[in-house]
Amino acid sequence: MIERTNPLPAAADAAVISFTLNGEPVRLAVPPARRLIDVLRHDLLLTGTKIGCEIGRCGACMVLVDGRPVNACLTMMYQLEGRRVTTIEGLAGGAEALHAVQRAFLEEGGFQCGYCTPGMIVSAAALLAERPDPTDDEIVEALSGNLCRCTGYGGILRAVRRAVAIGREADGTG
Ligand code: FES
Ligand code: FES
Repeated sequence: MIERTNPLPAAADAAVISFTLNGEPVRLAVPPARRLIDVLRHDLLLTGTKIGCEIGRCGACMVLVDGRPVNACLTMMYQLEGRRVTTIEGLAGGAEALHAVQRAFLEEGGFQCGYCTPGMIVSAAALLAERPDPTDDEIVEALSGNLCRCTGYGGILRAVRRAVAIGREADGTG
């Protein structure tokens, strides 16, 4: 159980929010309107989730809430009571057990500077959890909320296709 109080000056409007973060129960005293991205990066030092536009356009801050991709820059803490939050740090089963999408991005070189990569991987992981064998159009659609300024998207598409193949190999259908 992670129990933290917000390090900012005691906010008169702080409330205790209970949720699950990367499989672990968390109780945090935070202003209910504090953004999830700030709690993750500044309060809990989970800096894998990036911050870019801060207006829901770039996807750098993508996390999963109850398995669905959401922008942490637009998510307020009061929305998370009782929910299940997964960040890029929580996708892997440990250093030796990367998520299939993480492995695929490494194997296919699906990044350059890497700033968009956590968000891309979170969005792709959500897609494959729902549709293990998506078409290219479905992959492009699922990643349409994630912007990359470096790669031209070719390596990213290859990486997601590779993750699909890894999934097939794992379930014996590949
Ligand atoms: S920082 Fe959240 S969408 Fe860009
Ligand atoms: S790899 Fe640099 S923004 Fe995507």
